Amino acid sequence: LQKEALEAVAAARSTDEVERVRVRYLGRSAELTGIKKNIGRLSPEERREVGRAANLASREIEAALKKRAEVLAEAEREERLRSEAVDVTLPGAPYPRGHLHPTRRVIDDVVDFFVGLGYRVAEGPEVETDYHNFTALNIPPGHPARAMQATFFLDEGLVLRTHTSPVQVRTMLVQRPPVYVVVPGKTFRRDSDPTHTPMFHQIEGLAVDRGITLAHLKGTLAAMARHVFGGGVGIRLRPSYFQFTEPSVELDVSCFLCGGGDPDCRICKGAGWLEMGGAGMVDPDVLEEVGYDPEEYTGFAFGFGPDRMAMVKYGIPDLRLFFEGDLRFLNQF
Ligand code: PHE
Repeated sequence: LQKEALEAVAAARSTDEVERVRVRYLGRSAELTGIKKNIGRLSPEERREVGRAANLASREIEAALKKRAEVLAEAEREERLRSEAVDVTLPGAPYPRGHLHPTRRVIDDVVDFFVGLGYRVAEGPEVETDYHNFTALNIPPGHPARAMQATFFLDEGLVLRTHTSPVQVRTMLVQRPPVYVVVPGKTFRRDSDPTHTPMFHQIEGLAVDRGITLAHLKGTLAAMARHVFGGGVGIRLRPSYFQFTEPSVELDVSCFLCGGGDPDCRICKGAGWLEMGGAGMVDPDVLEEVGYDPEEYTGFAFGFGPDRMAMVKYGIPDLRLFFEGDLRFLNQF
């Protein structure tokens, strides 16, 4: 019996197995335990003989179990350490890095330029009242300009703002001159073609102070264009019309992509100039509406389309690509 037990101990391949062997040969229902229990029924001589042999066997088996368990426990510990080892010197798994959207880069660039000139950044709501989006800007109810702006009308006199110009009004209503603000934001019109998307961005600017003239506007726009597109770029102001500026102009930037004369140029299409936005001197009616004295103060305002600017800057022929979220497109920037 002892020999069989010792062989079983030697054959055990894990501490769990050693435990099973212990139960089998020394446990409550083991054969050896039975022998010890029944020792009382033997004759005195037999008792001594059997008792000694049984105890000896128990002790030997116990010792063998202990030794085997120790060896196996050590091996198991080592195996665990090996399998759970962490190599802290391994380089981390590369984490994909995002980057700014091309429109966002242009917005940041333009805003940085104006902040550098001392302008403050202002923002306003995308769901705007009819009053701020139109009426206060000299576009009264029933005016055809409302239809021209392809407005998304909401309930109760609210609209999705069609331009960032309502933030001019909001700023002037809460602040006295001098005012120098730049206003980046989202704007909305019912439009979709290669150069129009229902949501697009504008960057508004407003400067109201004593003695502001159209020359200040032109110098500011020229410096902005050089900052965003590079030193060689020229600007041109064309007469235009907006209800809230007088006089009004359209801002063009010279086609620096292909010199302008190239009829195959995807972006300029041979025109030589690219339209960037509208601008003008703030209409005295608008100044009066917000409680400024037009005899004392004058101002200029402008509104650019940074999506269009990004199209030009990066040579993208279709504006809609900017908003489709296709990573094959976006990852090129
Ligand atoms: N808000 C005008 C537009 O969306 C642009 C503009 C802004 C014109 C400021 C003049 C002054 O078309």
